[in-house]
Amino acid sequence: MLFSQQQWLRQRFFVLGSLVLGSLFFLVIPLHTLQHKQALGLKLHRRNSTKEQLRTLRLIKQLPRAIIIGVRKGGTRALLEMLSLHPAVVKASQEVHFFDNDKNYACGVDWYLKKMPFSFPHQITIEKSPAYFITEEVPERIFKMNSSIKLLLIVREPTTRTVSDYTQVLEGKEHKNKTYNKFEELVIDNNTCEVNTKYKAVRTSIYTKYLEHWLKFFPTEQFHIVDGDRLITDPLPELKLVEQFLNLPSRISHYNLYFNATRGFFCLRFNFMFSKCLAGSKGRIHPDVNPSIKEKLQRFFHPFNQKFYQITGRTFNWP
Ligand code: A3P
Repeated sequence: MLFSQQQWLRQRFFVLGSLVLGSLFFLVIPLHTLQHKQALGLKLHRRNSTKEQLRTLRLIKQLPRAIIIGVRKGGTRALLEMLSLHPAVVKASQEVHFFDNDKNYACGVDWYLKKMPFSFPHQITIEKSPAYFITEEVPERIFKMNSSIKLLLIVREPTTRTVSDYTQVLEGKEHKNKTYNKFEELVIDNNTCEVNTKYKAVRTSIYTKYLEHWLKFFPTEQFHIVDGDRLITDPLPELKLVEQFLNLPSRISHYNLYFNATRGFFCLRFNFMFSKCLAGSKGRIHPDVNPSIKEKLQRFFHPFNQKFYQITGRTFNWP
């Protein structure tokens, strides 16, 4: 009888313990997830949650303290997503295009703020709109909003970036059943046989051309250059440098990044329940490029690259 009473008590303790642990598990994990991801904040936003609820959670909207200004096809999405692995970083999911789009800009900073996700006061908001880098009006507009903002520029070897840019446009044309010129036809001027600087994809890869304009408004210390080629092959060291630049404690670790052989890229692990790879539109297969045209492009970019290294203080092994 005594034995069965002890057994009964043990069973009750076991059930009670499991219940307590189970509840803790379900309470702690979503809270943990909340701190690591802004997803709940976004959901609250979508469901039009009450001000009361937001106040209770101490969620607010904050203007970005750092912006990924470009460059298009440099790896801007990967950088933003990877930075959002950091518990103190909250990302604006969509490209906001506030500073480069006159219509949006005319709506004012309040409009911009409304586009930002909810965050905790200690977190920093980051947005990316790659068109910012090449749009003339943008540096001055950003400066007027916040002259001490931190600017992240992710670059790739210029010829590769040009091909990537072309590939994106080509895919768009193909989806619309439209034909498009071959890469070689676009990058070389038919009359002069020289590199065609009227082709936007070529111009965008002349990084110094745009950076020099930005430097009329912001000092070099406010920029951090990210190596987009290394972000593909070995992302963690690049992310550590960004953490330092943003004065954030180092939180992103090997645990958060794993190589997915099927995808051929690093994917993101937020916690043991949630991981993801970037969409299929990131990491397209590039068309083969005539080697002599490729060389010609590389020769063309070479002096601009040297100047870029000089200005930024960051040297790459670009040809
Ligand atoms: P490709 O499609 O040419 O390979 P952006 O986000 O600025 O448009 O840049 C897209 C590029 O990000 C892709 O160019 C891809 O190479 C690069 N990238 C970097 N890290 C990636 C990752 N983890 N997953 C997918 N693409 C990544």
